[in-house]
Amino acid sequence: MKGILLAGGNGTRLQPMTNVVSKHLLPVYDKPMIYYPLSTLLLAGIREILLISTPASLPDYRRLLGDGEAFGVRITYLAQPSPDGIAQAFLLGRPFIGDDACCLILGDNLFYGNGMTQLLEDAGREAAEKDRAVVFGCYVNDPGRFGVLALDQDGKVADIEEKPKAPKSNYAVTGLYFYPPGVSDLASELRPSARNELEITSLNQLYLRQGRLSVRLLGRGYTWMDVGTADSLAQASAFVQMLHARQDAVIAAPEEIAYRKGWISKAELIASAEKYASSGYGAHLAEVAAGKIPY
Ligand code: DAU
Repeated sequence: MKGILLAGGNGTRLQPMTNVVSKHLLPVYDKPMIYYPLSTLLLAGIREILLISTPASLPDYRRLLGDGEAFGVRITYLAQPSPDGIAQAFLLGRPFIGDDACCLILGDNLFYGNGMTQLLEDAGREAAEKDRAVVFGCYVNDPGRFGVLALDQDGKVADIEEKPKAPKSNYAVTGLYFYPPGVSDLASELRPSARNELEITSLNQLYLRQGRLSVRLLGRGYTWMDVGTADSLAQASAFVQMLHARQDAVIAAPEEIAYRKGWISKAELIASAEKYASSGYGAHLAEVAAGKIPY
């Protein structure tokens, strides 16, 4: 299973914060936003990752994440010349994906919840072994901002609509997608939408029409945030800070995930802890290395 981390776009809804900094490098409490979706890919067990961003921002991501060695994974980089749509990731990423299944996560999506690893691994297995696409629905009070599930009387997914004016349910489709081998071929059938983008929703509609789309609903035990506006950025920071303050839980530390998965050694974890010795993040990594944080 390959993983694509999509971190391009202009971030216009967060201007002027994004005038010189890519949106996905803005802080969500104690770490750059991109750490959260990166951690989700790691939790899914994905170790080959392609990060796609704008030509201008790619050097910043390279400087931040390097070749992925500190996280026990391999990260490569690719430019998206202009934001022509989320599904373009599968055309640009075709050589990287090859004949494998592929998970795509949007760089501004944050997931948290008990059982996340199991959920991700199950979805990955379904895509790779059962030749099905897997997407996640989450109940929200403002569905019109997202891709939205249209459910029939039996609660089955009848359609997915992108930012509908009259949403047919409160279930938004999150920015985390698992696709079986061949996703680039299907993506190449897409044509630009009215807003001139290759829509991820159109790709999911193709899988739905072929009877190859599984939709899993995230229950109340999960938190999903699309950190695309100033309000959601502040809310995400407050959420992470609250977990930190109340439970001593540092979430989305990729070095910690890699260590617990056995992808990096204790010495490598300690090296990262020492690199960040002056910050709470470094202190957390040191505590993990010392065995003080329960799994
Ligand atoms: O977050 C989930 C939602 O993401 C889904 O429910 C929608 O179906 C899906 O279209 C998308 O909606 P957004 O309005 O959030 O899409 P946005 O244009 O903000 O792009 C999402 C992320 O992908 C953002 O971090 C920038 C990045 N992106 C986007 C486009 C269009 C790229 O890197 N390149 C692109 O061409």
